[in-house]
Amino acid sequence: MSAFKNDFLWGGAIAANQTEGAYNVDGRGLANVDVIPSGEDRFPVMLGKKIMLEPDKDHIYPAMEGIDFYHHYKEDIALFAELGLKTLRISIAWTRIFPMGEEEMPNEKGLEFYENIFKECKKYDIEPLVTISHFDCPVHLIKKYGGWKSRKLIECYTKLAKVLFTRFKGLVHYWITFNEINMILHLPFMGAGLVFKEDEDEMQVKYQAAHHELVASALATKMGHEIDKENKIGCMLAAGQVYPYCCDPEDVWKGMCKDRENYFFTDVQARGSYPAYAKAFFEQNNINIEMEEKDKEILKENTADYVSFSYYSSRCTSVNKDVEMTGGNAFSGVKNPYLKTSEWGWQIDPLGLRITMNALYDRYQKPLFIVENGLGAADTMDANGNIEDDYRIEYIREHIQAMKDAVEQDGVELWGYCLWGIIDLVSASTGEMKKRYGLIYVDKDDSGKGTLKRTKKKSFQWYQQVIKTNGRKL
Ligand code: BG6
Repeated sequence: MSAFKNDFLWGGAIAANQTEGAYNVDGRGLANVDVIPSGEDRFPVMLGKKIMLEPDKDHIYPAMEGIDFYHHYKEDIALFAELGLKTLRISIAWTRIFPMGEEEMPNEKGLEFYENIFKECKKYDIEPLVTISHFDCPVHLIKKYGGWKSRKLIECYTKLAKVLFTRFKGLVHYWITFNEINMILHLPFMGAGLVFKEDEDEMQVKYQAAHHELVASALATKMGHEIDKENKIGCMLAAGQVYPYCCDPEDVWKGMCKDRENYFFTDVQARGSYPAYAKAFFEQNNINIEMEEKDKEILKENTADYVSFSYYSSRCTSVNKDVEMTGGNAFSGVKNPYLKTSEWGWQIDPLGLRITMNALYDRYQKPLFIVENGLGAADTMDANGNIEDDYRIEYIREHIQAMKDAVEQDGVELWGYCLWGIIDLVSASTGEMKKRYGLIYVDKDDSGKGTLKRTKKKSFQWYQQVIKTNGRKL
């Protein structure tokens, strides 16, 4: 007997901006993700502190080519099918459908591209899982309205969502409204197309923009259900339980506050209203969220069907300033002395996945979906052309074991598990190709050179077995 039901969705995940490339092909417009360069300007741009809304000749823009999934999707989906994937998580490049974000009619070429992907998936019985916005905002909407700062974006986004739900009815059943919605607090330009003037109150802007995204997410959920009652529409969080560095109540309290910073988003999306602690926080920090009368009702009546999340690591915090720090998903944190770290400083904590799953399930009592988990590492190809990524197998094995424990021993309801970057792709935080997550290697380096040839790594066969045995053989 497996811990997982027969319809458990073993999967792989990618995102448009990190894979597709073809940024100016078939009528696609320019998006925030296209103009985020690699190199030292990347972070200031992602933070919305350095404003670069047009590409220039002095920078490399890794999203512009990605791994050219746009022209390789058939070959790649065939590999995913060989792997045995039951689900493929992709995202939509907003500007393929609405190049500027507010045209009357969608771009047919963009719709065709995704339709072809979904048909290709269907051919192999792969269920698509579609993120409507994965760090994606048309540059035109940033220039004209300031991105999600403006309420106007709700209208533009819901128009996009309506086109997608209508056109892909019957082909897609699983949707996510926004990837890692809490990223708006940490990387606001990448997360929501926000740029800041020097004297601007950033917190005010971020939470107002977050409100717009939350309302847009609820409206999309409503629409998706009306268009096809079979649709399952989820929220998505960059998750990872925050541990107090020690049992000093001050550390414990700080950990709780840090968790709430993230849970704020899913609390609204899964429960349907602003939590009391958030209202208190806004008052104490002079944050004034402009809402329309109907917003509360929209949020209340259109909660998420399931809670999806990414998990790479737990987090750690302390009031003590002398503790050592380390890297993490978009933001650094306190180094936990009990954990090893990846080459990029991300802490490795499989039990943390079980802890996070239990925390989320206790909080929402809604089905969970792990839509990202994996290890970024600098893989190398040996003289025989093999990539022996045993470290990745070990990471995934331990995380799947932890999720199995959460399902089998703790009774958590889990719909599926997607490995992040099932095929090597551009790193969101660093823009590197060198930080590889894939079970399939892509020949391309950080300067953009390479043949783009795909090669199966050792982990490919390993995950194939895991799926074949429905998680019995790890
Ligand atoms: C998540 C994102 O934050 O983590 C992905 O949803 C991203 O887009 C992934 O790629 C891994 O992060 P990174 O920075 O190593 O690519």
